[in-house]
Amino acid sequence: MTDPHVDTARVNTRQPEADALVLFGATGDLAKRKLFPSLYRLEKSGALHVPVIGVARSDWDTAAFREHTRESILQHIPDADPAVIDSLCASMELVQGDYSDPETWNSLRSALDSHNSLTAVFYMAIPPTMFPMVAKKLASVDLHHRGRVVVEKPFGRDLGTAIELNKTLHEVFHEDHIFRIDHYLGKEAVEDLLVFRFANTLIEPVWNRNYVRSVQVTMSETIDVEGRGSFYDSVGAIRDVLQNHLLQVVALLAMEPPAGADSGFLQDEKAKVIAAMRPIDPEALVRGQYVGYRDEPGVDPESATETFVAARLEIDSWRWAGVPWYVRVGKALPQTATEAMIELRKPPRMLFDEAGGPAPDRNLIRLRLGKNDGVTFALQAKTPGPELDSQEVHVGVDFAAALGERQDAYERLLGDALIGSLRRFARQDIVEGTWRVVQPALDNPGPILPYFKDSWGPTDADDILVDGDRWFSPTPVPEP
Ligand code: BG6
Repeated sequence: MTDPHVDTARVNTRQPEADALVLFGATGDLAKRKLFPSLYRLEKSGALHVPVIGVARSDWDTAAFREHTRESILQHIPDADPAVIDSLCASMELVQGDYSDPETWNSLRSALDSHNSLTAVFYMAIPPTMFPMVAKKLASVDLHHRGRVVVEKPFGRDLGTAIELNKTLHEVFHEDHIFRIDHYLGKEAVEDLLVFRFANTLIEPVWNRNYVRSVQVTMSETIDVEGRGSFYDSVGAIRDVLQNHLLQVVALLAMEPPAGADSGFLQDEKAKVIAAMRPIDPEALVRGQYVGYRDEPGVDPESATETFVAARLEIDSWRWAGVPWYVRVGKALPQTATEAMIELRKPPRMLFDEAGGPAPDRNLIRLRLGKNDGVTFALQAKTPGPELDSQEVHVGVDFAAALGERQDAYERLLGDALIGSLRRFARQDIVEGTWRVVQPALDNPGPILPYFKDSWGPTDADDILVDGDRWFSPTPVPEP
């Protein structure tokens, strides 16, 4: 499974700062929704010091590209400062041409030469099928020695194609010049999992099979496929988010403490815990599709693509053996949230039940990783009155209120790519490990079950729960 090009010990996690940003797919959707607003924020904070060179097939010139950038920013940040947009736009230019035309690549090279660029970031905001071709074209004009490449997920469609894609990229770029974006790794609350676990003496002693009964990670969205039907139908929830965002979150929740602060140690621990995950048992997985999905534009009317998946994972490590890990993701569900719920075992004896009501609930740790991020502990406290009884109380913190607003994930990751920090990017062995975990679900997906929009998916998802376990609804968050 490992590639001879990747000697993880040799991977250089910190590299020279970039002197140019090249954006492939500059007129596309990702650039518009995520990259231009992030560039604006970087410009505003003074962190963007490099020219931005868009590459696109669209018949545009630099003026049209700048105008498009301006509009995209204003659409996402209505109160954006016009002076900041102006200075960003002034640093932008467009190389227009067909990717198959050698002239396009010569023009790109000339553009980089004109800025004396030796270390560019080549950002591939293009369909993954184009990654190998673009990598080879960069090599054809000798630009592969003059920068690093940022690639967007999905990295392959399964374990075999992921290995193949990596092999092709490694023919052109060394592993430490490949920055694989998983935007969940750029989220503050996701990164906070490390701090929460390893900077709090209170947490770590109970974070294991002796005290934890189950762990549950839910990523639910109220939106449906929102016009992305033709893309989504070829992907589905397992490939779109379970293999990447969700398993990265699981790895951060389950891994052992890194041996040191160097980011290579963090990646090593993630790789180890993913290696300890059993490949998903198709019997412990339920796939659903919301009613109406097949009528979405671009979707096959007989599609068997899942828009919902729930699965039970097992981690064969000393820390987690025997603890069920549940993951659940879906579109058109009642709430938008990403939450990890840790349910602790009950105390060995229940003493505080004099009034004889329902047994107190077990302690819960609810980690909110999406909007309104924070953490809430569900604890027991004495019910006021003469009897010794307990009831649930919530002790929580909203991170935004306590710590202030934080950077957006794309802004952070783009900034990291520019300064040359690999810490928040996905390493090859980890990507391949996560594909290995989901592979049985791809090989043997089982039936697709319908569910109504605004429900929590097919009720069969309850069947994968171990006796006495339940699905927890995430904390409601106000829709924008
Ligand atoms: C993307 C998926 O990676 O993540 C989308 O392709 C999904 O389908 C999105 O909607 C969710 O990201 P976030 O940051 O809104 O939770």
